[in-house]
Amino acid sequence: KETHVCFCGSRPRSYGTVMAEEAKKLAAYAAVDNHIQNNQVVGIGSGSTIVYAVDRLSERVRQEKLNIVCVPTSFQARQLILQHCLTLSDLDRHPELDVAIDGADEVDAGLTLIKGGGGCLTQEKIVAGCAKHFIVIADFRKDSKALGQQWKKGVPIEVIPMAYIPVSRAIAKRFGGEAVLRMAVSKAGPVVTDNSNFILDWKFEHSQNWKEVNTAIKMIPGVVETGLFVGMAEKAYFGMEDGSVKTRD
Ligand code: 5RP
Repeated sequence: KETHVCFCGSRPRSYGTVMAEEAKKLAAYAAVDNHIQNNQVVGIGSGSTIVYAVDRLSERVRQEKLNIVCVPTSFQARQLILQHCLTLSDLDRHPELDVAIDGADEVDAGLTLIKGGGGCLTQEKIVAGCAKHFIVIADFRKDSKALGQQWKKGVPIEVIPMAYIPVSRAIAKRFGGEAVLRMAVSKAGPVVTDNSNFILDWKFEHSQNWKEVNTAIKMIPGVVETGLFVGMAEKAYFGMEDGSVKTRD
């Protein structure tokens, strides 16, 4: 189900062009305001959109004196929680979360996601899997009918370093396309994840049954996790170019 509302907090707002950063903020604020209540354990995602969600969460914690415990999905998320003086926890102490909020690289019409543009897919999937409700926040560029229409960098796949060549070959042989080792911006070496692994970006050629593909890729020895999130997201908030927030559930 899709709905469109002009969501501007308590401020009335005229429609106009808002850039991607403003759109991220609109989505993040709407999700935090609609899904976070007192006495909750909250999973904190990774990326640039989640920064706005943590801003809004810390504002609400201060203003409303909320008791919120946060579980991070990455080193970045951990730093964000600490910088905002929020209560930091982990899955040892809080293995059940009330809600997890996270960004996405692409969200299709059935709420299947590509995640891992920032390389944090494994911990993001673990935390989302521990949450009663998994809520996605994104700007309009991530809104897609079918995976691959918007996000052109492929599906991130976290692999054990020694296995990156065999895994890359196995994926290309079985599913087509090309799985490329993600390099650091400096090109000095591969990107290394928070779990000390490598990332392959699988540039697939055509739409597939993502549930089956996800399961099959995870069976390849050396694969730690894929950035395909199938049947996990409950609702997505998209900040739109016209200043509205579109939701999908
Ligand atoms: C990191 C992620 C991010 O959530 C995803 O890349 C979206 O990031 P951004 O909010 O910066 O667009 O999956 O691994």
